[in-house]
Amino acid sequence: MTTRIPRIAPSEITPQEVYFNRRAFLTGVAAAAAGAALGRAAAAVVPAGSGAPLACTFDGAESVGALVHAPDQNEKPNTWYQITHFNNYYEFGTSKTDPAEYAGRLQTRPWSITVAGEAQRTGTFALEDFLKPYALEERIYRFRCVEAWSMVIPWVGIPLAAMLKRLEPTSRARYVAFESLYRPGQMPGQKVPILSWPYREGLRIDEAMNPLAFMVVGLYGRVLPNQNGAPLRLIVPWKYGFKGIKAIVRITFTETQPPTTWSRARPDYYGFYANVNPNVPTPGWSQESELRIGNPFFHQRQKTLMFNGYGEEVAYLYKGMNLREHF
Ligand code: MTE
Repeated sequence: MTTRIPRIAPSEITPQEVYFNRRAFLTGVAAAAAGAALGRAAAAVVPAGSGAPLACTFDGAESVGALVHAPDQNEKPNTWYQITHFNNYYEFGTSKTDPAEYAGRLQTRPWSITVAGEAQRTGTFALEDFLKPYALEERIYRFRCVEAWSMVIPWVGIPLAAMLKRLEPTSRARYVAFESLYRPGQMPGQKVPILSWPYREGLRIDEAMNPLAFMVVGLYGRVLPNQNGAPLRLIVPWKYGFKGIKAIVRITFTETQPPTTWSRARPDYYGFYANVNPNVPTPGWSQESELRIGNPFFHQRQKTLMFNGYGEEVAYLYKGMNLREHF
């Protein structure tokens, strides 16, 4: 008899109206009503003064918009504090608390994004202009770090596919590469050659076009805090967290697989694909289970799911590939 590992569909975590409607941010009267209804739940996890609320579309101004916080479903989102005080962001140090302590010094305005390579619309754009065409959505995703801990996080952002399509990649674009800011004056970790700076990541173009891939500008309906990758970061929920590059300044469409920071630093530990896979251990530790941050029974690990539980949505991308070789 085979045992089927229970799969948790994203729709079970994010309420269907949020997940399917794709316009999670409401306006006007509806927003006020939703805000009142949801405000109580959000207030419990988002302390006062935790970043400005986001507007419905990203206009660069920190104007008041509707806070739509998807209420708890099967999996409880982690709290604001947990998500913003347990971080990996080596530009600010290697301890989990360094980013919360030091990332505040990073100036995220003005910010520009350079688009290069195999696309029709290349150039350098002010972030406000770059993001203006899109409505923001909330997506509550599981987040699984390769270090074997996990969280559930209510991100706010834009589907990566929508953004990339607008840039009109050419038929030669097979990959998309991302680069973080390099600014050692404000990112002291970059003065230490612990990684080759700037931080780099990449996806195959069909992975990038999957509807789950997400460009994030907010968290819990608030502007994304610096320690979580402000002003713009990537989230790929079926992959290990290190694919989620922060403080993006450059997007390049390429014909060949781009170099990525962790797969260059430790190719025996971290691959380009980095799909969450409980069957492939990282040398030195297992990936079979994970510790959910905030679990009061902290010794109780939970089973890690293939593709972090998003297999139904993404397994087609890897048909015919040996996921042990292409880890
Ligand atoms: N992006 C940059 N630029 N620098 C980093 O050190 N760390 C990665 C990823 N993105 C990292 C980065 C790793 S290892 C993880 S697990 C996630 O960010 C952590 O995201 P979080 O701090 O929002 O939980």
